[in-house]
Amino acid sequence: MATNKGPVVSVLEKALADTYALALKTQNYHWNVTGADFFQLHGMFEEQYGDLSGAVDELAERIRALGHLSPGGLKAFQSLTQIEDGDGSSSPIDMVNDLAKDHETVSNLLKEGVAAAEENGDVSTADMLTGRLTVHQKATWMLNATAAR
Ligand SMILES: [Fe+2]
Repeated sequence: MATNKGPVVSVLEKALADTYALALKTQNYHWNVTGADFFQLHGMFEEQYGDLSGAVDELAERIRALGHLSPGGLKAFQSLTQIEDGDGSSSPIDMVNDLAKDHETVSNLLKEGVAAAEENGDVSTADMLTGRLTVHQKATWMLNATAAR
């Protein structure tokens, strides 16, 4: 294993745990959302957790490519993530607002990661995290636009 972890891998670990937790929460809401907008929200949540689940693999494998072991268990993710579990009995609007807030939280972490990667001359990680930032900002927009109806 490589030497000490450094700020880039630390952010990647947190981004991995946040992405995993947010995928699970979004899927929870996909399963449990109710109401007149069921089909719309059920479908939007499905699209979002699908993206997040794919990103988990990409983030973990970037940590491996940088020479470190990836966290890979629920306890590890729970200790690393800032995302709290969702409540499947929440109202649709509370679910939408909750996810919008979480995507913003992850965006802030990713901006920190891009800056750290750029500072390290790690253009590949900076590029990956910038791509993820774009996706999270789009999700924030879509969720906020949904809540504004
Ligand atoms: Fe489903």
